[in-house]
Amino acid sequence: MRFRLIATAALAAALGVGTALAAGTKDEREAIMKKIGGAMGQLVAITKDEKPYDAAVVKTALTTIAESVKAFPDQFPPGSEKNSPAASPKIWENMDDFKAKADKLHADAEGLLAQLPADKAGVGAAVKALGADCGACHQAYRLKVD
Ligand code: HEC
Repeated sequence: MRFRLIATAALAAALGVGTALAAGTKDEREAIMKKIGGAMGQLVAITKDEKPYDAAVVKTALTTIAESVKAFPDQFPPGSEKNSPAASPKIWENMDDFKAKADKLHADAEGLLAQLPADKAGVGAAVKALGADCGACHQAYRLKVD
């Protein structure tokens, strides 16, 4: 029994099912964006003096953003257009541009990791730069829902 369970899990992992089965769901999309939003929140807290500058926190937040956004476009496979009301149909019409906007955020976060903001002012500039990437994609592809 136990072996069967393990074997099934291993097979599922090998086939990429399991978590991948959930790809494109509202929950999966929101979970990624919430992670990104949480990381941004940590950076913003430093700019507002709610938290002291901490290089380790900045590094972790930027890493979370860079890593998380990479998997985001995978959450919009063909046929999943109706899975979440906040996802605009334009995503599927302009998939290359949608991916480019995700890549831009990834690249900007990686660039900041390579030259880690060294103080509060640096974090402020980073928030501004990354925030522009969030805004560009949200404006084009995120719908307002109540
Ligand atoms: C490539 C496009 C893209 C980029 C870049 C992007 N977002 Fe999003 N974001 C979306 C889309 C699309 C949704 C709606 C997802 C859904 O519900 O289907 C969303 C939703 C969200 C949500 C709401 C999640 C929820 O629980 O409903 C938050 C918070 C968020 N984004 C934060 C950010 C932040 C912060 C950044 C920048 C650091 C960012 N996003 C960058 C496309 C993007």
